[in-house]
Amino acid sequence: MSRGDHRPVESFYHLWDVPIGSQACQGTACFAARHLNPQRWSGAVSGGQRIYCLGKCYMAPAAATEDSRPLMEVHAPRAVVLERLAEGGARPLAAYSAGGGYGALELTLRRPPAETIRDVEVSRLRGRGGAGFPTGRKWRAVFDQPADEKFLVANADEGDPGAYIDRFILEEDPHCLIEAMAIAGFAVGARRGYIYLRKEYPTAQTVLLEALSEARQGGILGDRVLGHPYSFDIQLVMGQGSYVCGEETALLNSIEGKRPEVRTRPPYPAQAGLFGRPTLVNNVETLANIPWIVRHGAEAYAALGFSNSRGTKVVSLNSLFRRPGLYEVEFGVPLRHIVETLGGGLRTGAITGVMIGGPLAGLLPPEHFETPFGFEELRAVGAAVGHGGIIAFDEHTSIPELVQHVFRFGAYESCGKCTPCRAGSREVERMFERVLGSRQVAREERGAWEDTVAALRWTSLCGHGTGLAEFAESLMRHYREEITACFA
Ligand SMILES: Cc1cc2nc3c(=O)[nH]c(=O)nc-3n(C[C@H](O)[C@H](O)[C@H](O)COP(=O)(O)O)c2cc1C
Ligand code: SF4
Repeated sequence: MSRGDHRPVESFYHLWDVPIGSQACQGTACFAARHLNPQRWSGAVSGGQRIYCLGKCYMAPAAATEDSRPLMEVHAPRAVVLERLAEGGARPLAAYSAGGGYGALELTLRRPPAETIRDVEVSRLRGRGGAGFPTGRKWRAVFDQPADEKFLVANADEGDPGAYIDRFILEEDPHCLIEAMAIAGFAVGARRGYIYLRKEYPTAQTVLLEALSEARQGGILGDRVLGHPYSFDIQLVMGQGSYVCGEETALLNSIEGKRPEVRTRPPYPAQAGLFGRPTLVNNVETLANIPWIVRHGAEAYAALGFSNSRGTKVVSLNSLFRRPGLYEVEFGVPLRHIVETLGGGLRTGAITGVMIGGPLAGLLPPEHFETPFGFEELRAVGAAVGHGGIIAFDEHTSIPELVQHVFRFGAYESCGKCTPCRAGSREVERMFERVLGSRQVAREERGAWEDTVAALRWTSLCGHGTGLAEFAESLMRHYREEITACFA
């Protein structure tokens, strides 16, 4: 196929053939911290290509040329996901194996697959990629499909600005992901796995390629996994800069080399996913829980957490906090504990609200910081666990500025399939540009804003459009005065 034949595909991506270079980031954590380095921020927004998240939100506003390691601490009764990261990581195979790594895979291979599926169900683990879907139910759905070929995909696209949890699992504990994928593959009956990694994480790419090669040489991947008749291998696929490719069906289209628009459902990936075959799609952090569950028992995992949110969750705090970093907490702790005790409050002034799970979720004001950290509990106050990235805002960001930033991001990343998302998000971006110019727009425009939010809520095919609606609804609920003031 000639290069020209790729045009409909490559034109979808923002970073196709574009090196990350020395670009500064304009993701939401960098936006929230733009007053800390106005020069860098203006470089980010006036530079050539937009970069929406480099996963360096702890040192925002961030640039591709600078890096450091964030704080990583466990504040849960038991360390699960940060078990090795909090001790400095276990990048080489020898370091991972020395700590008991791949023991869970050995155990899995000695048992019937149905026992592992049962374990994941009993653990009550829910997806960490954003939707919180019960992981055991998804594994069983793929397991139950009669098919001669099934696939497994680890979603390492981590596009939510504010989140850098997966980045450090990939860079410092890559064998945990490989072990989890081999366990999942054996359990559901897949012999081939894919890791879909965002281009903005070049170090993770290098580390994963090295870890996959070590695993093949060590007899963990390839024919006869650890000497067992089961064969399994993993391919690394690089994204090309598209937030919506984190959505699982867009991601599958991207791996297939198609234009990565979101697919209509049903069928769900568990029924007809990659190349039309039953496919298990899980987030990196979700999978990172699996070896622990197999080693320590599903009951031990379910004993952590509360309500319908069991186990632990890693949260990532942005640079406005006094102590930005990765913290593993038990579900159920009040949000205030995370913000004030772990994060130490803000170093830049009074906190006006926190956004959890990226810009496509709600903004929660300090009055709600007693809310326990849990899926349903946060949803009840118009917020979400999401992927666990927490971006705090201070008085340097006004509500209209935030709306304009989020809808600018939303419009840029829309896959274009639904009109309210493709055209409506751009309309709102422009509306709030005008608000920022004149401080107010005509009262009649309020109707257009509310109608667009309602259309996004009810007619969007995927969580990109509904997420924009959720963000706007949270502002109308918690920051009503500031929104009303935008309309004369
Ligand atoms: C616009 C959009 C972007 C998403 N981006 C990601 C992502 O970067 N990483 C991720 O794991 N899930 C992402 N998701 C969620 C995935 O569609 C899917 O639910 C998830 O990978 C399933 O894994 P889990 O059940 O382990 O969470 C996104 C969803 C939407 C709607
Ligand atoms: S809501 Fe937006 S991103 Fe999702 S399918 Fe529709 S147009 Fe695409």
